[in-house]
Amino acid sequence: MIRLHYGRMLQDGLDGGVDGERGIARERLAELARRFPAVQGELRTRRTAGDYGFYDLVHQEAAVREISAFAEGLGQAHDHVLVLGIGGSALGTKALLNALRPPEWNELSDEAREFYPRLTVLENVDPTSVAGALRRIDPRRVLVNVISKSGGTAETMAQYLVVRQWLEEALGPAAARHIVFTTDPERGALREIAERDGIPALDVPSAVGGRYSVLSPVGLLPAALVGIDIEGLLAGAARAVERAEPDELMANAPALFAALLWAADTWHGGRIHVLMPYSDRLRELAEWFRQLWAESLGKARDRRGALVNAGPTPVGAVGATDQHSQVQLFMEGPYDKAITFVRVEDPGEDVTIPVIDGMPEDLGYLGGHSLGELLLAELDATSSALARMGRMNQMLTMPDLSAGSVGELLMFLQVACGYAGIWYNVDPFDQPGVELGKRLTFTAMGRPGFSEPLTPRGGGDQV
Ligand code: PA5
Repeated sequence: MIRLHYGRMLQDGLDGGVDGERGIARERLAELARRFPAVQGELRTRRTAGDYGFYDLVHQEAAVREISAFAEGLGQAHDHVLVLGIGGSALGTKALLNALRPPEWNELSDEAREFYPRLTVLENVDPTSVAGALRRIDPRRVLVNVISKSGGTAETMAQYLVVRQWLEEALGPAAARHIVFTTDPERGALREIAERDGIPALDVPSAVGGRYSVLSPVGLLPAALVGIDIEGLLAGAARAVERAEPDELMANAPALFAALLWAADTWHGGRIHVLMPYSDRLRELAEWFRQLWAESLGKARDRRGALVNAGPTPVGAVGATDQHSQVQLFMEGPYDKAITFVRVEDPGEDVTIPVIDGMPEDLGYLGGHSLGELLLAELDATSSALARMGRMNQMLTMPDLSAGSVGELLMFLQVACGYAGIWYNVDPFDQPGVELGKRLTFTAMGRPGFSEPLTPRGGGDQV
């Protein structure tokens, strides 16, 4: 089970909390706890109204059966899975691959991959990445999973058109047998093409938005195809949902996580929320969190329609690497951050640092310890040093990097984000701010019906 250590968000000092006046006062924590039943009440009402559909992803027995059957059949006949998608349709899959498959998965031999396919996520429309991927991948051995809830996202549809032509050039009419869609059950261009061309299509449940969809077929199909234990993922996710049952804030870890970060922002200027796992395997998960937090909470208007321009700025970092990059700023820069560390107790593997005779005395302290010990010692030291410097920080501790623990962490953060939406009084499930950019892109690309005036590149002024 994931534990939340939050003492260093509070104002106690002496390492048990933040030194000085900067942290959240105990009375303020009590105030959050007093206000929480109303937050929980609102969440329940909104859940009943269907807003929080991602909670129900823990009950997906039929989808899991369908995905597993698919992965064991068609999936295993291919040695490369190419995912086309962007945003919530791509980041979760990258996080799952990074966390739950051995490092450098695509570089491993077939034996080392236990004959599961390689996996590439083609997120962007950068022509150099797309062209490079299509040069590397053999169209005869690829399964292309096109993922778009709306079925109309310009980047994904452009990728699809390019990849479909590439497949048809290589395979002729057999191309369609190398494609599977994951999309809305009823609407959108992908659903239409699926019906027309007989392409299998899995459903993204209507009540689940893109950035909350990693535990739906969006993330589960690619995960199952590369041999990730999807039932384990969902069992872990169910634990996080259970953790969010209590009406008492101090017993509800995801809610407390959200409340503390909201309070850090609203009362103490901690408007930058850093997620810093001490694990290379959670690097992509930190990227996934950035999107979840940014797109869900960064809103111009609150629920009543008042202009608030709300939203913390999420930042991803990885320890210990970023101790030599961003931590100087976290320690001494503006008091505008709250840092969440992720600690993995047992990463499944460790490497002993050898004792080598004749080494300079200064290096002697390392020999006999392990790299895992060093990593965790650095994490504890950084967390403690930050508190002594008056910097709010908290820690999520996972027992291991099993599918269950990763599923629990993903769901924990999604549930927390749903709570944060209520504390910030914004809709965490829409993204009106990206619409204008989309319309201007359509205009620039000549899509019929879009003709907003375009200003000169970069605003015109230049040097
Ligand atoms: O979280 C979201 O809703 C977005 O990031 C979407 O996932 C992203 O825009 C891609 O949308 P779609 O899946 O409809 O192609």
